Parts: sequence; structure tokens; C-alpha cells
Amino acid sequence: MSLNPRITHWQDKRVWLIGAGHGIGAALARRLQSAGAALALSGRNPQALEAIASARCVVLPFDATDAAAWQHACDTLSTRWGNIDLIILLAGDYQALRAWELTPDVARRLTDINLMAPFYAVAACVPQLMRQKSGGIALVASVAGAGGMPNALVYGATKAAVNHLAQTLYLDLAPHGIGVWVINPGFVKTRLTAGNDFAMPALISPEQAADEIIAGFARGDFDIHFPKRFTRWIKLAALLPYRCWFYLMHKVTGL
Ligand SMILES: NC(=O)c1ccc[n+]([C@@H]2O[C@H](COP(=O)([O-])OP(=O)(O)OC[C@H]3O[C@@H](n4cnc5c(N)ncnc54)[C@H](OP(=O)(O)O)[C@@H]3O)[C@@H](O)[C@H]2O)c1
Repeated sequence: MSLNPRITHWQDKRVWLIGAGHGIGAALARRLQSAGAALALSGRNPQALEAIASARCVVLPFDATDAAAWQHACDTLSTRWGNIDLIILLAGDYQALRAWELTPDVARRLTDINLMAPFYAVAACVPQLMRQKSGGIALVASVAGAGGMPNALVYGATKAAVNHLAQTLYLDLAPHGIGVWVINPGFVKTRLTAGNDFAMPALISPEQAADEIIAGFARGDFDIHFPKRFTRWIKLAALLPYRCWFYLMHKVTGL
């Protein structure tokens, strides 16, 4: 039995994408739009959202690191739509960092968008989902959260925390009929990874990522991870003793 309701038909589903202006979010918005979903698109840059939005889309620009803006956006959308069927939080940021490069400012900036934003999303949106007694929330994490990795100093920690958060949300919300998903991509070719100066293993396009996400929703997975040829190995390696994991990370990254 699947852990979540299987979503196989998107026609008229009311889906709110946060982080829809670029990268995986933009590709997913295009795919869901073609499948007939009614979309609300959020991100900081209204022009990027308008460029993707069809006539029936709601464009709701806001900064996801602002808790009050989350509440305002959620209230606006629920007033307009009534119920929200699915909230997908994709907004995130990455900066390669080694231990000796960390500053409080960069730690705060990455934590605000990658971890505080999901908390603000939960605080603003879960009461609405509970009132509806339907719908669900999907948080985008990363396989970089599976274990410590060179260069993922803050990013990896925030994404590990998002996986933990999603599990706890699932335990609380699934008994109320509310879906909770965590999405763990491997490497996807977007501006987030554009600065990587190494050959990214199993790199996929944003469109392939969007297709994987849609396939994961159709299966009713809780953990939608892809591409499996990469993420399965990472998940398996994370089960090994720390000695093996540390050895593999040094060996594979050369760092
Ligand atoms: N690319 C990968 O290899 C990869 C791998 C694993 C996980 N992920 C995760 O996938 C998600 C999407 O990443 P991506 O690769 O598609 O990156 P991207 O192309 O840089 O897109 C990030 C999106 O987040 C939005 N965003 C950033 N900060 C925001 C803020 N403060 N408020 C509102 N929106 C904000 C951006 O729009 P604006 O700049 O217009 O606000 C943009 O639409 C992220 O959570 C990322 O960590 C990516």
C-alpha cells in the first residue's frame, strides 16, 4: 500500500508551487500546467513567474524567508481558491562551503531559505490543510542530506533537517488524511548547480526532474528520490559504518 494518496490526474487540481520561477520549479509548473492543473506560482521575482504563468494561474510573489509573507500568501490563496490541493515548496539555495569558509551570515542565509522557510510554510499552511481535512504538502530536500559530504556544510545539514521534518509531519498529518511528501533529487542542471566545477554524476535536466516528481506522486511515494541510479547508491552508502562512508566520500569527491 502506498504511503500517500496516488495523484494520477492533475486536471483542475489546485497546486501551489513556491520556487516556481526557475529550475526544477519552473519545469514542474510547465508540466502541471499542460496536465490541466490550476496553479499558483510563487518566488521573489514576479517577472520570472509571469513568464511561466498561463491566464488561469495565480501569481503570488513573496520572499519565502518572511514568515508573515507566508501567512499572507496562504490566506490570499485560500480565500481565492477555497481549498488548496497540494503545496510544493521548492525554494532553496546552495553555496559550496568547506569548514574553514563558514561565516555566520552565510549560515543564516542558507538556513533561512532551506530550513526556516519550510517551518514557516508549515506554520502558515498546515492549519489551512487541517481545516480542509484534505490536500497535502511536499518539501524539496536533497540527497545531500543523506550524510556528511564535502562542500555541503550548511546545505547538507538543512536538507537532512528537512527530511526529518517531513517524517515528523507525516506522522502528525497522515492520520488526518493530509499527504506529506519529501522530494530528494540528485544533481539537476539548474542555476543552483551552475557553479559546480566537477563532473556531476547522473546529472539530469529540470524537465527530467519534473517527470520524476510527477511519477513519484503517481506512485504515492513518501520519499520521491531520483535519479534512482544515483540516489539508491547514496542511500545504501549512508547505511554503512561511518568509517566506510567517510572513506567513500573522500574517494569519490577527491576532497
Ligand atoms: N539542482 C539540483 O541539483 C538540486 C539537487 C537537490 C535538491 N535541489 C533542491 O531543489 C530545489 C529547487 O532548486 P533548483 O535547482 O531548481 O534551483 P534554482 O533554479 O536556483 O531555483 C530555486 C527557486 O527558488 C526560488 N527562491 C530562492 N530563494 C527564494 C526566496 N527567498 N523566496 C522565494 N523563492 C525563492 C527561486 O526564485 P527567485 O530567485 O525568483 O526567488 C527559484 O525559483 C531547491 O530546494 C534545491 O535545494 C536541487
